[in-house]
Amino acid sequence: MRTQVGIVGAGPAGLMLSHLLHLRGVESVVIDLRTRDDIEETIKAGILEQGTVDLLRQTGLGDRMMRDGFVHHGINLAFAGGLRRINLYELTGGRAVMVYAQHEVLIDLIGRRLADGGDVRFGVSDTQVEGLESDRPTIRFTDADGTAQIVECDFVIGADGSRTYTRFLMPEGKVRRSFFRQYPFAWFGILAEAPPSSDELIYAHSDRGFMLISTRSPSVQRLYFQCDPETNVDDWSDDRIWSEFEARLSPAGTSVKPGNIFRKDVLQFRSFVCEPMQWGRLYLAGDAAHTVPPTGAKGMNLAIADVHLLDRALGAYYQSKDTGLLESYTDDALRRVWRGQWFSFWMTSMLHRFSDATDFDLRRQIAELDLVTSSTSAAKTLADNYTGLPLT
Ligand code: PHB
Repeated sequence: MRTQVGIVGAGPAGLMLSHLLHLRGVESVVIDLRTRDDIEETIKAGILEQGTVDLLRQTGLGDRMMRDGFVHHGINLAFAGGLRRINLYELTGGRAVMVYAQHEVLIDLIGRRLADGGDVRFGVSDTQVEGLESDRPTIRFTDADGTAQIVECDFVIGADGSRTYTRFLMPEGKVRRSFFRQYPFAWFGILAEAPPSSDELIYAHSDRGFMLISTRSPSVQRLYFQCDPETNVDDWSDDRIWSEFEARLSPAGTSVKPGNIFRKDVLQFRSFVCEPMQWGRLYLAGDAAHTVPPTGAKGMNLAIADVHLLDRALGAYYQSKDTGLLESYTDDALRRVWRGQWFSFWMTSMLHRFSDATDFDLRRQIAELDLVTSSTSAAKTLADNYTGLPLT
């Protein structure tokens, strides 16, 4: 087979790039180890920045999102015995976020790629990429029904998520450098059939650690609390979970509305960046190149921002053989990636209880939360970054 752009990974980055390229008449083949059901059912985060929402709408992917998603104009921070709202909309001059789950975005993207005749191969195995230093790289794989395939392409996109294979094709040391930070905690996440506990998200600081109230629909809620990374979900009965939420939230004068918990998971936390994001004909996008802790709600948005740049860069190349944007991809992408890293780290460190934290640290966190909820310029910094930099 021959295509222009070979894309490894059918997550938000890979599928969105394939969609954007299709709109400008550039061909691609997308492959993924996972089945379509797996991709469409895996529960991930659910906040879309304004720029992500705009791009999905402008490219014909907004119908279900505008019907089933929820636009939020603010978020709440709970700390020191009270609840304070950050008015994202006013502080940013009219920007907001959309609560719409990542797997719903993937359902929309897959449906659209297939309706447009896109070549998306699920359930492949034995992926092998070769020739990245030539101008004819190849992707070999075995397709779902066991047939060996070779795709010859101009470019390979490594969009295969945090368990990436493609990142490791960049020689370590000489080319590839890793930057990371671990955290001594994780998030315990639940999905529950319950009414919303709040109209808008609540990020809560408490003596017992962080918790977050989010939502999926009027009848399904998503909540998290900070936990030990070794936590076993089976040790946590529904009652125990709801009392933990209650204990962390009630000091702020508000409470959770419990219901039937139908999913429990522990999300590991990590900050990670791979530099550069390009080597030879390989371009990394999304979690294959970087991971953020979920507190800043940036993960999928950074992936979409990467492929927005790649789409323009590949577009310029195919239209006029102009390689300028391809050459500056690493620098252009990393600027936003590192901003997202800073923001996610900042939100995480302001809101979580660290195991070595002293009373001094708790008081310092409260002073910081007081600052971002009372100083307009500090609140604006949070709001600008939470709703996201415009896609340029
Ligand atoms: C979610 O709804 O899953 C969610 C919301 C906000 C975050 C992280 C996750 O910061």
